[in-house]
Order: sequence, then C-alpha cells, then structure tokens
Amino acid sequence: MLNSIVRKQLKINGKLSVRNNIFLSPLDINKSSIDGTVSQNDLMFHSSRSKDVGVDVVGSAYVSQTGKTSTNSVSICKDSDVNQLRYLSDAIHQNGSRAFIQLVHAGRMTNSNTNGGLPVIAPSAVKAKHGDFPIPREMTKGDVYQVIQEFTDAVDRAYAAGFDGIELHGANTFLLQQFVSPQSNQRTDMFGGNLYRRLTFVTLLVTKVIEHAKKLSSNFIVGYRLSPEEIEDGGMTLDETVSLAIVLDKLGIDYLSLSISNYAQIPQTVDTEMSIVSIFEKFVKCQIVVAGGIKTKQDIIEAGHKADFLAVGMALINDPDWLKKVGD
Ligand SMILES: Cc1cc2nc3c(=O)[nH]c(=O)nc-3n(C[C@H](O)[C@H](O)[C@H](O)COP(=O)(O)O)c2cc1C
Repeated sequence: MLNSIVRKQLKINGKLSVRNNIFLSPLDINKSSIDGTVSQNDLMFHSSRSKDVGVDVVGSAYVSQTGKTSTNSVSICKDSDVNQLRYLSDAIHQNGSRAFIQLVHAGRMTNSNTNGGLPVIAPSAVKAKHGDFPIPREMTKGDVYQVIQEFTDAVDRAYAAGFDGIELHGANTFLLQQFVSPQSNQRTDMFGGNLYRRLTFVTLLVTKVIEHAKKLSSNFIVGYRLSPEEIEDGGMTLDETVSLAIVLDKLGIDYLSLSISNYAQIPQTVDTEMSIVSIFEKFVKCQIVVAGGIKTKQDIIEAGHKADFLAVGMALINDPDWLKKVGD
C-alpha cells in the first residue's frame, strides 16, 4: 500500500541513492547531554524514527559554542564530537536510511545561559523581536570569516562521523537568515546594504562548503534550508528568498528545503494564489524538499505532486511507525 504513495529508489541530485522521498525533518529534540554529546535518548529517537524514511536529517547541530541554539542541542563544534556522532549515523544507517546532519549557528537567537556565557554575535547589534535574547554584538569581519571556517570544520566532522551529507540551517531566523534579512542585517560594509550585498555572507559560506564537500567525496550532499518569508515589519519577503534560492541553485547546492508550516501555503508577502513551493519549483532547477503539516496519505500524495521530497516532523515524533501505518 505504502508503495503506491511514496516514490521509491530516487537519487538526490543524481548523486546519492535514497530508498524513498520521505525525510525525517530536521528536529532539535533537545535530548543531548549538556556538553552537546549524543545521548541514549538521541540514539533511541533516531533509531526509531529512521526505520522507514529515505533520509533522516539530525536537527540543529551547533558549529560553535557561541552559536548554540538550545541547552540540549547536539554539538559538532569540536573534533572530540566525531566518535559520538558516529553512533548516530550508524544507528540511522542500520535502518537503511541516509543520514544527514543540519549545521546551525544561532547568531542573535541565543543567550548566555545557552551558550555558556560567551558573547552573542550577529550581523548587527539589533535585538531579536521575539524571545529572551540580549542585544547581540555586531560581528567583525574576522568573526564572519571565523564562522565560515567553523561551518567548514563541521563539514569535515560530519563526513568523518559517517554522515552522507549536511544541511545548512538557513531558516527559522538563525544566523544565515539574519544576514539575508534587512531587519537583522543593518551593516554598511560589504556584508550589508542591498539584497545583493546581504547575500554576500551566504554566498561565501556556501561556495566554501560546496568546494570542501566535493574534496571529501563526490557524492557528499550539501542541502540548504530556508524560511521563505519573515512575517514582521521590515522582514524578508518571498521575492528576496526566491533570489536567494536562485543564487544557491547556481552555486550548486544539492537540494533546497523549505521550512513552512503547511506544504500548500500561499505567500503573505506577494500577491498570488500560487503555493510557495510551486513558486520555488518554477525558479530553481535543484530538487526541493517541502515540510509542513504532512500527516495523512492524502497529504503525501498532494505534497508529492508539488515537491521532489517531503519532510515530516510532528507525525513521526508522535508515532515512529507513522509512515508504515499511513499507507494502510
Ligand atoms: C520539536 C521540534 C523541533 C524542531 N527543530 C528544528 C530544527 O532543529 N531545524 C529545523 O530546520 N526545523 C526544526 N523544526 C521544524 C520541523 O523541521 C518542521 O519543518 C516543522 O515541524 C513542520 O513540519 P511538521 O508539520 O511535519 O511537523 C522543529 C520542529 C519541532 C516540532
């Protein structure tokens, strides 16, 4: 029954075979040890949730202590994390699923309780509109290049730990999105200003990460997750994130993942009846992963008409056997 609703034996960007079109959406399940090492709970979660999916994306691994997003997130910021992370990729592989890990830097979306008292850094000294976060320190050029290096080092660790790919976390208002958004990036140097300049950081980062990943292995996957819109005054519009997606596509990312709350959602920042995912499908050549409210057999079929891959969060959190059952 399941065979009739999921697509099987696919390849990501012609490089990496995956058994079906369902991803376990990146989830920060907040179950790692306080120092970011993989816990038994992490292992149990991923062993049980990767049983049937094509790809399991381990959510929000922080690339530096400064950029830790929550107290019990998983760490990929030091070489000593590699051994623990290997247990995670092994557990996922034992289920026949591909193992990816999402790399994150919180930027201004953290505080001293979470990041161990380190400075909170961001493109500009502009406080986040929501949450208990301090006014960040504006990043120096040195900080910018250091963060790019931290992501590159994390790619090495992901590869050494046996993952099949990484996903850059450019969504949910973390650092990468903060550079693109005119609300959080008010810099006047080469990293700020018009959209073209606000894309400089992401362009440098993605170029370096892709170059690096290719040296490690020709089929190591580099995906990018973005939030298509910021629904707040002065936030990113859909037009702007489509431009970002076009740039990412040209740089050679292997897939683009859209973080939205419903896969069929239409935009709020441009006037159209087209769904967000269809708009992105129109403008980029790379494969698209869409998330948001995929819960039923009908959702899998409908979302499967819109995007190459479907990312599922809550349904698999609530029931590890969801994918098997939903086909019945
Ligand atoms: C507990 C929880 C943790 C999440 N953590 C992350 C994360 O680390 N990275 C990310 O990109 N999205 C994260 N998300 C968003 C999910 O990946 C997904 O996009 C969202 O839940 C919508 O899909 P769903 O309706 O199938 O749950 C999280 C969501 C939940 C519920």
